[in-house]
Amino acid sequence: MNIIKAENYKEMSQIAAKYLTEQVSAKPNSVLGLATGSTPEGLYEEIIHRYNKGEISFKDVTTYNLDEYVGLANDNDQSYYYYMHKLLFDHINIKEEQAYLPNGDAADLQEECIRYESSIQAAGGIDIQILGIGLNGHIGFNEPGTPFSSKTHIVDLDESTREANARFFKSIDDVPKQAITMGIDSIMQAKRIILLVSGSQKAEALERLVNGPVTEDFPASILQKHSDVTIIADQDATSKLSV
Ligand code: GLP
Repeated sequence: MNIIKAENYKEMSQIAAKYLTEQVSAKPNSVLGLATGSTPEGLYEEIIHRYNKGEISFKDVTTYNLDEYVGLANDNDQSYYYYMHKLLFDHINIKEEQAYLPNGDAADLQEECIRYESSIQAAGGIDIQILGIGLNGHIGFNEPGTPFSSKTHIVDLDESTREANARFFKSIDDVPKQAITMGIDSIMQAKRIILLVSGSQKAEALERLVNGPVTEDFPASILQKHSDVTIIADQDATSKLSV
């Protein structure tokens, strides 16, 4: 794993934006895997900045988001659909029909999982997958115990994840109990992975991801087995790494 230590959150975001810009200029019809949460917000800001300067175009780009809550309509301001449009898609020239998220409001959720997984395959697979990490090692919404062989599936969210994400909702009661997420195997199929980590509260998770055993109890540990992972972490997040 390639670990890049950034001075701070802004530098982490800028480095990640540079990687995505290079990817898209080398392959204008790239397929990008995108993430939500607080961590990539700065990356999306940087991308919009670069787009406004004419450094990157999304005209031929396809994107797939990692996950979506179950039961929230697209226009619910807590849905990841809403987040992605507000923080990125509304500000760049991506085609609406090429910006995919799982539909957590689908009538048949099982069928939606199969449809989403095959759509990624049909697009030729993901060139670069952006990831964040949850405090309990989750990637996407793959909670501890998720089989490494998993494809896109429905998950019951851990109470700790619902608590961590409650800050975005009016109260914890409003946080959905389920989500659709790309599986661990779906994520591992990406040709390249960029994991962003920021803040001292993530330091322990990062240390465990890099040095801990590869175990389904800590989903992100599987990344040790991927051949092209770049971790971009700010100083606070790397405080528990010895190198
Ligand atoms: C969320 C998302 C993940 C994200 C993680 C960390 O629940 N489903 O994709 O990487 O948890 O979120 P944050 O960046 O807000 O710490």
